[in-house]
Amino acid sequence: MSPRWNWDFEEKKRAAREPATTPPLPAPRPQPPDPRARFRRRRLGAAAAFLLILVLVIVALTSSHGDGSTSTAGTRVPSAALRPPTVSELQRDENGVDSVLAYTPFVKEGAPRGRDVALTFDDGPGPYTPQVLDVLEREHAPATFFVIGQEIHDFGTSTEREVRDGFVIGDHTENHPMMAHLSAHDQHEQLFEQAARIELLGGHRPRLFRPPYGSFNATTFRLLHQMRMLMVLWSVDTDDYEQPGVDTIVRRGLEGAKPGAIILLHDAGGNREQTVAALPKLIHALRARGLRLVSVPRLLADDPPLHGQPLPTSLAGD
Ligand code: NI
Repeated sequence: MSPRWNWDFEEKKRAAREPATTPPLPAPRPQPPDPRARFRRRRLGAAAAFLLILVLVIVALTSSHGDGSTSTAGTRVPSAALRPPTVSELQRDENGVDSVLAYTPFVKEGAPRGRDVALTFDDGPGPYTPQVLDVLEREHAPATFFVIGQEIHDFGTSTEREVRDGFVIGDHTENHPMMAHLSAHDQHEQLFEQAARIELLGGHRPRLFRPPYGSFNATTFRLLHQMRMLMVLWSVDTDDYEQPGVDTIVRRGLEGAKPGAIILLHDAGGNREQTVAALPKLIHALRARGLRLVSVPRLLADDPPLHGQPLPTSLAGD
């Protein structure tokens, strides 16, 4: 749009819209000064000013909304939806992970003390990740992304955006294998390569790990201990990757949603239109229950998991 409002253009548009009903305007002819005409001109001027303000407001709203669509093209105007964490927030998150690691190598939910819940997204980055980020930023909703290293090659712009906008990034391996089927060496490669990629993008070295397919063994725990990483499972599974319908994803997300819940969603690995559509509904419904959306490290710091939980066995049945 041109910076100056083109009244002729608007007049033409109006004439084009109402060709049959609007009679042609009579040619202007010289008239003596008329106070009523001056009043009409003033009234017209006021109406025009109001219209201009209205148009500016609409343009402003549309362009902030359009932030999302432009982001898919990778030319996003920075939004103020979220911001990078401060040093003290980062330290709190690190301390939260450390204090939990001191007594357990895994977490599947926080203790139900407060009102925190954590949204987590697996398998990205992918083609739908920008839309997921658009929703989260519009809703000012923190989240944790468990990223696959090799997907950064094609969709790394989204991972950079996650870093820049203060989302927490966890390790979901380099290329999504069943960890329990791999040698210790190969498991280490899977963990290490992904973590290195995140650091290369300017992110912090991941402290959280989510096993693909829920597959892990004693070797996985040994490696995680060496790398000071915490295994993050989940307490609520939406199975959104099955594309069961938007309402079903929302319902499943809400079913187990209670203080301390860790909710599993996917921003990649297939068509995620339903996840994108379900996300605002899920966020609104969680908040309507008085729950507060936080990152996983924040959940750990606020409501660390209960002590004495038995080590889980692989959820992949291997
Ligand atoms: Ni996965």
